Amino acid sequence: MKQSLYDQFIERYGASNQPVRTFFAPGRVNLIGDHTDYNGGLVFPCAIEYGTTLMIRPTESLSYQLASTNFDLIAVLSADQANRKYGDHWINYPLGVLQQFVARAPLDGGFECLYSGNVPNGGGLSSSAAIEVVTAFAINSLFDRKLDLLELVKMSQRAENDFVGVQCGIMDQYAVAFAQRDHAMQLDCQTLDCEQIPLTLGDYRIVLINTNQRRELSESKFNERVTETQQALEILAPVSGASQLAHVTPEQLAEHRQRFEQQPELLKRATHVVSEQQRVRRAVEALRNNDLARFGELMFESHASLRDDYEVSSDALNTLVELAAGTQGVLGARLTGAGFGGCTVNLVHEQQLQHFEQSIGDAYQQRTGLSADFYQITPSQGVRELHT
Ligand code: GLA
Repeated sequence: MKQSLYDQFIERYGASNQPVRTFFAPGRVNLIGDHTDYNGGLVFPCAIEYGTTLMIRPTESLSYQLASTNFDLIAVLSADQANRKYGDHWINYPLGVLQQFVARAPLDGGFECLYSGNVPNGGGLSSSAAIEVVTAFAINSLFDRKLDLLELVKMSQRAENDFVGVQCGIMDQYAVAFAQRDHAMQLDCQTLDCEQIPLTLGDYRIVLINTNQRRELSESKFNERVTETQQALEILAPVSGASQLAHVTPEQLAEHRQRFEQQPELLKRATHVVSEQQRVRRAVEALRNNDLARFGELMFESHASLRDDYEVSSDALNTLVELAAGTQGVLGARLTGAGFGGCTVNLVHEQQLQHFEQSIGDAYQQRTGLSADFYQITPSQGVRELHT
C-alpha cells in the first residue's frame, strides 16, 4: 500500500512533540492573456486541482531541512548555506522565498519539511509558483509573521526574479494564491485589480494536453522576450504616453509602426502584447454574454499571435492546436503559459471528450513520435492550510 505523506514525513524526520502542519497550493492554467503580465496587461487564469502539498514542522535548531517525494536529494542547510542558489535545483524556489523572509527579520527557529507535487512537470502549469506560494504561506503561518496574502505573492515573485533569475510577471503567484473554485480571474497586472468571474461553461470542459516535449532554453528565451518588450516600450512610450506596453492602443501601434523599421522583431513582439490585451477584454466580455464560441475563436487567435508574432510556440504545441481545430466539439485551443513546450488548453464539448482524446492522442503520436497526456480540469481554490 502507498505510504501516506504523513507517514513518509515521520519516517524521514522522526516523531517530535511539535505538530506537523499541512499546506497546499495549486498550479494554474491561463485561459487567455499570455506574456501580458510583465507588460502591465490583463490575464485570465484559474487554478487547477493539481498542486503541491507541503508538510512542515518547526524545529529549535536554526537549520532548514527540505525534502520532496518527487526528487531524491534531501537538503540540510544552516542559515548561511540557505542563503545561496544551488544550480537549477528545485530547492532554489523555497530558498528564494526563505530569503525574502530572512531579509525582513531572521526566523526565530528552523523547520523540517516535505513537499509532494502532482503538477505535470515542465508543463507550463506553474509548478514552481505553487512551491513558492505554499512555502511563503506556510512560513508566514508557522512563524506568525502576519503578512497579508498579497505581500506573500509579491515575495514569491521576487524569489523567482531575484533568486532563481527568471524575470516573470505576477500572474502565476497571484493566481496560485487568490484563485477561487469555479472562477477564473481577470487580473490587471499593473493595478492588481482582480475580478473573479464565474466560469460557466455549460456543456463544455477545459482540457489540458501536455506535449511532453522537453522545454529547452525556456528561461533564457523568456528573459529575452522580457527585454524585447522593454525595448519596444522605449520606442513607443514617447509617442503614445504609455508607461506599459500593454497600454499602447492598436491605433497608436499602427500609427507608429515605421519607428520599428530597423527592428522588425520588436514590432512583432509589440503587436502580440497590444493585440493580446484586446483579446483578454473581448474574451471576458464573451464569457459574460455566454458566447463560448467567441471565447474559443479568441483562444485560436491568441495562439496564432503567440506563434507568429511572439514566437514562443513549438512544433508540438502547433500540432496539438491544429489537431484540436480539426476535431469535432472543440471551440478553442491555445498554448498556455510561457510556451516553448508545455501544455495547450482546450475548450471541448463533454460528449466529444473521449473522441477528442483518442483521435488527437493517436494523430499526435503519429506526427511527432511523442505521446500526449490529457487532463480535464475544473477551476479550483488557491493556497490554503489542510486540516486533515
Ligand atoms: C510564465 C511567467 C508568467 C507569465 C507567463 C506568460 O508563466 O511566470 O509571469 O509571463 O509565463 O504569460
